Parts: sequence; structure tokens; C-alpha cells
Amino acid sequence: MKNNKKFSSRAVNLGDEMFPLRAIAEPIYQSSTFVFKNSAELKKYLKGDKSFYFYTRYANPTLKFVEKKMASLEGGDAALVTSSGMAAISTALLVLVSSGKEIISTSPIYGGTYRLFTEFFPKLGIKVHFVDAEDLEKIEDFVNFKTEVLYLETPTNPNLRIVDIKKGVKIAHRFGLTTVIDNTFATPFNQKPLEFGVDVVIHSATKYLAGHSDLIAGVVVGKKDFISKAVEVMKLLGGCLDPLGAYLFARGLKTLPIRVERQNQNALRIAQHLSRHPKIKKVYYPGLKDHPQHNLAKKQMKGFGGVVTLELKDLSSTLKVLDNLKIIKNAVSLGGVESLASIPVFSSHYGLDEEVLKKSGVTKGMLRLSCGIEDTDDLIQDLDQALKKMR
Ligand SMILES: Cc1ncc(COP(=O)(O)O)c(C=O)c1O
Repeated sequence: MKNNKKFSSRAVNLGDEMFPLRAIAEPIYQSSTFVFKNSAELKKYLKGDKSFYFYTRYANPTLKFVEKKMASLEGGDAALVTSSGMAAISTALLVLVSSGKEIISTSPIYGGTYRLFTEFFPKLGIKVHFVDAEDLEKIEDFVNFKTEVLYLETPTNPNLRIVDIKKGVKIAHRFGLTTVIDNTFATPFNQKPLEFGVDVVIHSATKYLAGHSDLIAGVVVGKKDFISKAVEVMKLLGGCLDPLGAYLFARGLKTLPIRVERQNQNALRIAQHLSRHPKIKKVYYPGLKDHPQHNLAKKQMKGFGGVVTLELKDLSSTLKVLDNLKIIKNAVSLGGVESLASIPVFSSHYGLDEEVLKKSGVTKGMLRLSCGIEDTDDLIQDLDQALKKMR
């Protein structure tokens, strides 16, 4: 049934929840297994009666609740929560590809996904070709009868380039490819890929969706048939989320819109301030008017996200600034309520060779900020005082 309520209302409450004892908050069914009263019930379950639960790796009511909410927020038919973003990516892609098949991916992508594509998938006989984020015409050069998937990630990490989702989908669908997008950086509050015709959306829910840096989780959203297949793959690969994690995920979703709205605002003001700073070579943020793809970002995004990347003189300047930040903490990850700073060559892109870094546009002078929800002036002051210490 179509839910006509606005995004923020659906984030809090889909409207049809009725928990036992009329609890307002979702119960945590922290149980690995479920009891059948008798063999007649077991038989009913085995025949497909969905009112019974069997084993938490197969399904659990706490997980089902988040799945329903995520499907609604992304505008999809169904969803599957997983134990991490990486589990979401591997589960979704292994529904679509097997030995001898090929994927075309935009570049750059998250370092972990890059390693999955270049180190692990080849061992399974799956080949991944890369096209530059802004050169989607090249997709046609790689398509052949083995190609199954076009994989997109936008905005890109850490340099916040924008992939034209509509254009990617148009090319992919012309060749019968399934499109899969990593929507982690944008969130469904800022960007709704399914509205542009994308087939499958995945997230690292560890980031904005859960939002409090206390959980590792992932989610896949798509058509009912696809999600049913993903459930079967997940059951075998084993990347299911535990019920307490699902509760934290659901709890985080309630405040997603207000958190992301504030993170959008903080990031924009910080990006504007730092783009005038004499010690900064470059600020990467799609919300800045001089970002080369600002118009495209405006077309496909409602807000530009909480990540801002700065380019400083060199690695030692970056380390100096990082070591002098007080409110903003030196930690990897992003999307939580706390502002964090990290050096891509020491975090998301650690260990990748020079050639790959160059192709991805990742430099040693980059400092990635994940803006939290603290007071904007405090964050700006923190950055200014740390930058003062840099020569
Ligand atoms: C864009 C993106 N996708 C996927 C992942 C992987 O998510 P997880 O760490 O939850 O497995 C990350 C993690 O940083 C990410 O930044």
C-alpha cells in the first residue's frame, strides 16, 4: 500500500506499527530461534506461512521492521538488512553475477569495494571493468554478452565527484544491465536513485542511516523478487544483522532527516568558509557553486551531504592539522553525529598503489571531514585554530 506521508513522518513512524502491549518503541527480539507449538505449526511455516519465524539468520521481526522502513524511505518495494555495508554489496552483487560474468563500475569507489572488485571477485571468476565517474560513454566500450551489472557510487569518496545517475541508468538499460548504486554518502534524504530508474540501492547503514557511530550494518533495497533472491544469498553467506543492531538501526532512522539536514548545513558553511582560507589549496564539496558538477548535483540531490574534503600542501601539513583538531576527532568513518576527520591515504584508500590513487584523484594532502551536528561556529573555529598551527 502506498504511504503518502512525507519522508520525515515515515522516518519516525510508518503509521501501521502496532507492537505487542502497544509499546511505542520497537521490541528487540533478541532470539536466535523461534518455538513452534506443535508440528502442525512447523508444517505451516514450511509451506510458506509468513506469520511464523524460524531462525534469525532467515528472518527476525526486529529486522523486518527496519527493512519495511528502509524500503519506504528509499521508495522501493522491499529491503534486506545485513551485518555491514560490505555484506550488502557482496550479497546484492552475488545475486546478479557468478563465475564468467562481468561488472562495469564507475571509479572512484570506496576502497573496500575496490578491493572486493579487484582482489576477491577475480578469484570467483568475476571481472570488473572501471570507467571514470564523469566518462559514462566509456561503458559502451566494455559491455559484452558477459556483462550483468553497472555499479555506481555517487558522490564519490573522497573527492566528491558526481556520477550522472540518469545517464548511467539510460546506458545500462539499453544493454539490459542491472544498475546497483551505493547511496551511502547521499542518504535517501538527499538522493533517491530509484526515482532515476536505478534497480538496486545499497548502503553502509553504519554511516548516516544509523547515524550514531555505534553500529556496523548495511541494507539492500530493490524489487520484491530481487530482495527474495538476496535473502537466499544472505542466508548462505551469513551476513545477517543481529536484532540489537537492527534496533539501533531503526532508532537512528527516526532522526535521519533532522541529522542530515543539519549535516548538510554544517558542511556547506564549512566548505564556503574554507574555500576562502589562504592555507587551503582546494575544497571539494558539490554544494559549492564552483564545484565543476554543481548543476548536476543540484539536479539529482536535495542536499549535498556532510562530507567535505580539503586539499592541503602535503601529507605533513595534513597530519599537523589533524593532530591539532580538538572538537573534530581523528577517526575513520562518516555520517555520525560527531564530526570526524581522516586522511584518505591512511584510511579508505590505505594500501592502494600510486597508480590507483592517481586514477581515483586521491592525493596525500587530502583531509576528509565528516561534519556532525555540533554547532557550526565551533567547528569552524576548531578548523581555523588547527590550520593556524600549520606552516
Ligand atoms: C561508500 C561506502 N560504501 C560501503 C562501505 C562499507 O561499509 P561497512 O563498513 O558498513 O561495511 C563504506 C565504509 O566506509 C563506504 O564509505
